[in-house]
Amino acid sequence: MILVVGASGAVGLPVVKHLLKRGAPVRALSSRESSGAALRERGVTDVALGDFRSDDDVRRAMAGVKSVIQIPPRFTEDEAAIGLRILAAAKAAGVGHYVFVSAFHPQMRSMDHHWSKLLVEEAVIESGIPFTIIQPAMFMQNMRIEWPVIRDRGVYPRPYSPDRKLALIDTDELGEAAAIILTQQSFQGATFELASGQSLTHAEMAAIIAAETGKPVRALKRDPAEWTDWAQKNGWKPWSIEAYLKMCRHYDVHGYPGGNALVLRTILGRAPGDFRSFLRRFLANAP
Ligand SMILES: NC(=O)c1ccc[n+]([C@@H]2O[C@H](COP(=O)([O-])OP(=O)(O)OC[C@H]3O[C@@H](n4cnc5c(N)ncnc54)[C@H](OP(=O)(O)O)[C@@H]3O)[C@@H](O)[C@H]2O)c1
Repeated sequence: MILVVGASGAVGLPVVKHLLKRGAPVRALSSRESSGAALRERGVTDVALGDFRSDDDVRRAMAGVKSVIQIPPRFTEDEAAIGLRILAAAKAAGVGHYVFVSAFHPQMRSMDHHWSKLLVEEAVIESGIPFTIIQPAMFMQNMRIEWPVIRDRGVYPRPYSPDRKLALIDTDELGEAAAIILTQQSFQGATFELASGQSLTHAEMAAIIAAETGKPVRALKRDPAEWTDWAQKNGWKPWSIEAYLKMCRHYDVHGYPGGNALVLRTILGRAPGDFRSFLRRFLANAP
């Protein structure tokens, strides 16, 4: 049994999809009945409803589990504490393989959500459980959030520089790689940076979107104050807003540089796809 923590999120859904495709037995920990129902619709027969902040719920979800993949929630103040709780429960349950989904460049101290992941990485390494840490680059699928604005107004707004290079990965290939790692022992005992090998600025992504849709699209820097206003109105907590703005300030100066495809190519057994191939798939079903 493979326990997926964070199964209904942007990373979790492709992980689950590729595990089920391989016929692997999956249990999903989910805190919401609606997410549990969506997971069942996608073929997950074992949904453990529970809260990753509850020792009891996490312990219950671990019963009979051979492997765990922990996908942390985004921009969450107690992300490290959540990770440490799940790891401790896995150790107590005698789990045989622990996969932690970190992020590309977790050592960046100026980004709180990266640093939280580094703390969990340290604990995973010291846990004594056979482990694999995966560090994915920026998700090509992030574009889905701005898609209505891109489609309706021909602009691709982000609250950081549109001219900095960002290492990218397609989350479908991230999910596939994670499923391979979880079902093949040969990928244990390592930390893998996962990237498509393609780094693009948002201006370059906008140019590809324009070419593929046949309509002009221009990347622009969204005013961080206006983004903050939006985030407050949409229920973001103050810590999460500040963590996001720190990321924007980091990207303004450094982008998200690097991104070597060697590891992802080895795991997938083929060359990873690029932004254009992701986009064509997305546009085929775009609202
Ligand atoms: N976006 C990027 O470009 C990028 C790049 C690299 C790394 N990352 C990292 O990737 C990670 C995953 O991202 P994501 O977008 O998939 O995250 P996400 O959408 O926030 O997923 C969060 C998951 O956590 C679950 N969850 C939330 N509260 C819970 C609770 N109290 N108890 C149990 N489960 C709970 C949610 O499931 P339920 O609703 O079912 O409970 C959901 O499946 C993040 O840590 C992010 O920093 C992101």
